[in-house]
Amino acid sequence: MRIIQATLILLMILSSCKHKEHKPESLPEMAVIANYNETFRPQFHFSPEEKWMNDPNGLVYNKGIYHLFYQYYPDDIVWGPMHWGHATSADLVHWTHKPIALFPDKNGLIFSGSAVVDKNNTSGFGSLENPPLVAIFTYHDMAKEKEGTDDFQTQGIAYSLDNGDTWTKYEGNPVIRNPGFKDFRDPKVFWNDIANQWTMLLVAGDHLQIWDSKNLREWKKVSEFGKSQGAHGGVWECPDMFRLRVEGSDETKWVLLISINPGAPNGGSGTQYFLGDFDGKTFTSEQNQARWVDWGTDNYAGVTYNNVPSGDRIFIGWMSNWAYARDTPTEKWRSAMTIPRKLSLRKIGDTIDLINYPIQPFDDQLVEEIEKNIVLAPNAKENIVYNTFNQTEVRFLTSSKDFRLHFKNALGEALILSMDATKDVFILDRSKSGKTDFQQDFGASQQMPIPYLSDEKFEVRILMDWSSIEVFINRGQYVMTSLIFPNEPYNALEIENRSQSPQEFTDFTVSNVNRIW
Ligand code: FRU
Repeated sequence: MRIIQATLILLMILSSCKHKEHKPESLPEMAVIANYNETFRPQFHFSPEEKWMNDPNGLVYNKGIYHLFYQYYPDDIVWGPMHWGHATSADLVHWTHKPIALFPDKNGLIFSGSAVVDKNNTSGFGSLENPPLVAIFTYHDMAKEKEGTDDFQTQGIAYSLDNGDTWTKYEGNPVIRNPGFKDFRDPKVFWNDIANQWTMLLVAGDHLQIWDSKNLREWKKVSEFGKSQGAHGGVWECPDMFRLRVEGSDETKWVLLISINPGAPNGGSGTQYFLGDFDGKTFTSEQNQARWVDWGTDNYAGVTYNNVPSGDRIFIGWMSNWAYARDTPTEKWRSAMTIPRKLSLRKIGDTIDLINYPIQPFDDQLVEEIEKNIVLAPNAKENIVYNTFNQTEVRFLTSSKDFRLHFKNALGEALILSMDATKDVFILDRSKSGKTDFQQDFGASQQMPIPYLSDEKFEVRILMDWSSIEVFINRGQYVMTSLIFPNEPYNALEIENRSQSPQEFTDFTVSNVNRIW
């Protein structure tokens, strides 16, 4: 009965919200429609209550709240006319669902973009006492696309004076018209403290464009980057750029993130990064080869928060891949976000690497269940039995580069992670992990080169959440994120020493991860 009531309330809310710009005042949160216990439902990752989600959008902190907007289609579990869904959090761990923030309008669907706190009210949309939140997004005009023109993507803005609860689109939209690029989208805006103005990153097919503005309404293109640098196996999407300090030094570098689809190292979608310099107008980098934020198949379109008080750079990615995002075996909703990760730069040998590692507040979700030190003779194995590894963190220290972890269930399904010293590679094999046949290449083995992994002890940390696995090696030096769909929870983990010498796996812990809903 309560479910029926809740559904009716939701239907009323949806019908009153649909295609309107302003929602009723008395609607701070969505009625609860999901109990988050469906098959494959993530328990400690963000997923929408129902229907289709892709990229994170408008990541911004304001007045105690982390906003997470996202590409959302409220009418189906496949991609469709895009809206901005919305959720908020005080700690980036627990989330509150909010009504849809941005609806399509006469200019088109609402594609990916960013949000800023306009503290000095440069836009004039608010006041110095109540600075506006301004969202900057791509309009995608389907009708124009069908006509066969190339100018169907433009950039628009909207503002909120109540910290994201209600939004008003700017009447002068679009603020950037299309100069003739079929792919011209995903504006990331940030306050540029070198030039004392707003900077917008935009991608145009095979390159990045940088635009300037004093007021978020009038924009001028100032530079380009990347036509002949990095990976170009697919279209460039979802740029982001920021300055980071190299751990333990005063050296800083600018980091540019560019998502690319297809063309990722293990197929389909992936996110590359460039290290370089930014003089306030132009980004330059000596890097020609692509470097990857995450080697797994399922971390795409990731961007970072604006305005975080601690100054930390916090990243969230969409945990899927355009190669099969529409086919994954969930029925009520589709897809989840990665665990929020802190980005940093670490000097390793002669190179500087971009590190990504779960934010520290997430650790409060962990309840340690097993702790042991494991020593294995050459080619020996140890089996750890646990009721379910599917909502679990596994963590240990080792200096072995020749081991295998084998998560198994009673159906004979297995997810196999192996480190291979002779090839300097880490392999994630999900070919027999559960449901894989919804797409031809889903079971292909995923490889991550680990050439600069320390010979000292390093940490292996694994987060498993019913339909995903995130592997962090050496505290975020090497990372793989991957979807999995086991038909039954894995309840055994075999650790195998594949080297010719005894090996230690110390501080080996298995922790339950509390659900966040
Ligand atoms: C990335 C992307 C963006 C676009 C959005 C549309 O996944 O293709 O480039 O704005 O998704 O939903």
